Amino acid sequence: MKSAILSALVLASCGVVNALPYTGGVRIAMNNQKPVDEDTKDVFTPPEDWPISPDSGEKHIPYDWQKGGIQNPKPKPFTPAGGKGVEPWPLTKPFYHPLSDFDHESLQLALYQEYIELDLFRYGLKRFSKEEFEKYGIDEDEQFLLQYMSDQEIGHARLISNMIGPSAAKQCNYSYPFDTVQGFIDFSQKLTKWGEAGVYGFLSHLDSRSAATLLTQSITTEARQQLIFRQLEGLFPMPEWFEPGIPQSWAWTLLAPWIYSCPEDNHYLVWQNFPALNITNNPDPTNPYYTPDISTNRTALSYPGRKVELAWEKPGKKVGPDGKYTTSTDAGAPKFVAWVNQLNLTYTELKLNDDGFSGWTIQPGDYVFPPESGKSNGTDTGPQAVRIVNGTMFIAITDSNPFLTPFNLSLINPHVVAGPAVYASG
Ligand SMILES: *[C@@H]1O[C@H](CO)[C@@H](O)[C@H](O)[C@H]1NC(C)=O
Ligand SMILES: *[C@@H]1O[C@H](CO)[C@@H](O)[C@H](O)[C@H]1NC(C)=O
Ligand SMILES: *[C@@H]1O[C@H](CO)[C@@H](O)[C@H](O)[C@H]1NC(C)=O
Ligand SMILES: *[C@@H]1O[C@H](CO)[C@@H](O)[C@H](O)[C@H]1NC(C)=O
Ligand SMILES: *[C@@H]1O[C@H](CO)[C@@H](O)[C@H](O)[C@H]1NC(C)=O
Ligand SMILES: *[C@@H]1O[C@H](CO)[C@@H](O)[C@H](O)[C@H]1NC(C)=O
Ligand SMILES: *[C@@H]1O[C@H](CO)[C@@H](O)[C@H](O)[C@H]1NC(C)=O
Repeated sequence: MKSAILSALVLASCGVVNALPYTGGVRIAMNNQKPVDEDTKDVFTPPEDWPISPDSGEKHIPYDWQKGGIQNPKPKPFTPAGGKGVEPWPLTKPFYHPLSDFDHESLQLALYQEYIELDLFRYGLKRFSKEEFEKYGIDEDEQFLLQYMSDQEIGHARLISNMIGPSAAKQCNYSYPFDTVQGFIDFSQKLTKWGEAGVYGFLSHLDSRSAATLLTQSITTEARQQLIFRQLEGLFPMPEWFEPGIPQSWAWTLLAPWIYSCPEDNHYLVWQNFPALNITNNPDPTNPYYTPDISTNRTALSYPGRKVELAWEKPGKKVGPDGKYTTSTDAGAPKFVAWVNQLNLTYTELKLNDDGFSGWTIQPGDYVFPPESGKSNGTDTGPQAVRIVNGTMFIAITDSNPFLTPFNLSLINPHVVAGPAVYASG
């Protein structure tokens, strides 16, 4: 039964758009430069006279941040000392391609994500009739917006393919877990969230700062899509003050299960697939009472103190395109639940059930910045206090609770037992 539904979905979604081929080189003229076409170089080897990080003119002038102010002579009028990649040609050569394996694997991951979005938005529009959308309150203008979002994905996929070059992955076949308009909107809202967070997680770690610039310019569009999907679902558009980033392996763990099959020669990603984590009592945002709106005062979907029930899989399951990936974990025994949202990583204690693969925890009430009083008194919902847990966010099971911050969050990976899962907390 389930596989029949799956293959129907797959057939319906295949071939909507053929793979967008590599179109050869990134031809981008910045600052009136002549377009640079690096297409002819198979392997990029920085010339000997290039600085350590070729596109950033890497050098560091000492700076005391606590002292603040201007501490070094200005190299030119109106030009504070420092900054990376701000020297003129030829010291800074924008290079919009991977400069490392890390860059290559990160861009390929982003490409896999753009491709599923392209397919998903088109598939939703094909699968449901105008009347079905309208019944849910999504009128023709809004349906066109969805169409337009899918067109944006063509541009994103093309940009990233061009940055990667000939080894760029091609579009795959997908399977989707919904059969209603609401389900489509909800899945899209969650998928764009991990797409966005997955890229924020690595942007500032890329060796190619030039590539990071272009990727920033596409992921910010995706962030707008995510917010619009929340609005189409009748959710509060952005109950957070900050958008989180997650490690590549988290994004890949969330994405891979929906990729059914890929062209045989598609690039094999090095990222890890962790065992799947289910939030057994995940709040369901698809409430027919709430229709699309710019904003709503919808009651929070969850609250601090809520018992959150969890179940996770054993490692060793074949997942992802053509079952070519296998879930794994390097962690010890499950002990904590890691909550990643806004600027924060916070842990709660996991109460393990006897089976060893399920348990529960309590939703924390911590704040991003504690209320002015320094202490919650139960009524402090004022503007000085926004809770870490709200909106569409991520949780995972870990074996310990290492202290990590947004820039070094990926060091959590060796401690991940299962997950992440997307928690529909608000
Ligand atoms: C989440 O944000 C919404 C909108 O600001 C708010 O109504 C709700 O109380 C928040 N939930 C929590 C748990 O703080
Ligand atoms: C997608 O599925 C169709 C139908 O099963 C198959 O013919 C095609 O080769 C698949 N394409 C990819 C990219 O996996
Ligand atoms: C929504 O909540 C805000 C803040 O509490 C309030 O000012 C506003 O009147 C509420 N809207 C409705 C329709 O109740
Ligand atoms: C997780 O949820 C999926 C979908 O509901 C289900 O197929 C799977 O068996 C669940 N896995 C666990 C470990 O609960
Ligand atoms: C959340 O992150 C902010 C910024 O790093 C930090 O100031 C705050 O203490 C964190 N909150 C908690 C509860 O960890
Ligand atoms: C709770 O704290 C807020 C400031 O964070 C203050 O305005 C409010 O009066 C306090 N309420 C009580 C009942 O102490
Ligand atoms: C991560 O960064 C924080 C500072 O933001 C530091 O205290 C912590 O030790 C780092 N963790 C690791 C494992 O490097």
